[in-house]
Amino acid sequence: MDIAKIAYQLEHSGYIVLSESLVADLLADLFTRCHDDDSTRFHAAQVGRGAGKQLSAIRGDVIDWLDNSHSTDQAYLACMEELRLGLNESLFLGLFDYECHYAIYGKGNGYAKHSDVLQGQKNRILTTVLYLNEDWHARDGGELVVFDSTGKTIVTTVNPTFGTMIIFLSEFFPHEVLLSHATRRSIAGWFRVRGS
Ligand code: OGA
Ligand code: MN
Repeated sequence: MDIAKIAYQLEHSGYIVLSESLVADLLADLFTRCHDDDSTRFHAAQVGRGAGKQLSAIRGDVIDWLDNSHSTDQAYLACMEELRLGLNESLFLGLFDYECHYAIYGKGNGYAKHSDVLQGQKNRILTTVLYLNEDWHARDGGELVVFDSTGKTIVTTVNPTFGTMIIFLSEFFPHEVLLSHATRRSIAGWFRVRGS
């Protein structure tokens, strides 16, 4: 990954969209992992944390957190670790760790407008979403719409095409996943700072 370019964009716009984020072999392996055929892995996503955690009507994905003992997941986490260290060096963000999950949205599902910073907690600093959809067409919907901090003005709309990754400052960009008309696969992740 071109960490210098990512750092520059994050500093100047607060987000970046990369069309070819990772090498093809890794993307292919991640795509293979992002399948729900083994019923023990994916489960309906919840909103909130701890006691406030609840099944949600606003998001329709099933998720599976990456598993550091699986070689494919390890390879992805290693790339993100390199990014974490590079961004800490250039932007002094103090990013402490990275958490991420595979996400699958079935047909007819989306995720209503929200912020990734959990209520009462500001420890999510940067959001990443990597898309794993080959042959994605405009008619498939499922775009990520990113708003400015007022939540009223669209900053960018991202098609969830294979290998595209968006990185943005979690606190400043409310966003929404439009209804998807095809199965939509991705890895959503968050760099966090230590604390609450
Ligand atoms: C999320 C999210 C965006 C996307 O998981 O919090 O906003 O494009 N995902 O999948
Ligand atoms: Mn989100």
